[in-house]
Amino acid sequence: MPEAAPGVSIQVCVNGKLHPREVEPRKLLVEFIREDLELTGTHIGCDTTYCGACTVLMNGAAVKSCTVFAVQADGAEITTVEGLEKNGDLHPIQKAFGDCYGLQCGYCTPGLMISALQLLKDNPTPNQEQIRKAIAGNTCRCTGYQNIFKAIENAAAKLRSPSHAD
Ligand code: FES
Ligand code: FES
Repeated sequence: MPEAAPGVSIQVCVNGKLHPREVEPRKLLVEFIREDLELTGTHIGCDTTYCGACTVLMNGAAVKSCTVFAVQADGAEITTVEGLEKNGDLHPIQKAFGDCYGLQCGYCTPGLMISALQLLKDNPTPNQEQIRKAIAGNTCRCTGYQNIFKAIENAAAKLRSPSHAD
């Protein structure tokens, strides 16, 4: 059996909490998030960097966390789907996916919500084409996407509402 490579010390801030850890150099960020931090909302749906179920924000940009080594996230700020809810209140994006039936099995949903989060941070009033482009890296096998588009439009409206303070 091959010997494990020596661990590398990293510190990653995930959902506002600092996590110092020692990791194998070959460990993927998605494995670090799911196995080391036990944040299993970030999913693994393929082994080809295709599905987007593993999408997280890394320093404000949506990345497929199966394409990043954990050591590359040393010093980074990561947001996973668990970081959306605040003090027990669902994020407007989470509410919108529920309100618009933007999911069926839900496997793709965490990644889609993170891609939507990045889109709506950069563009509070996206049109259909911009929404389609923003989630082009996220595959859903269940919904046919129409309710996902509606959910993201609905989330944008919720976030623009004066009653939403972030
Ligand atoms: S697990 Fe499919 S793109 Fe990362
Ligand atoms: S809701 Fe099942 S894969 Fe998208």
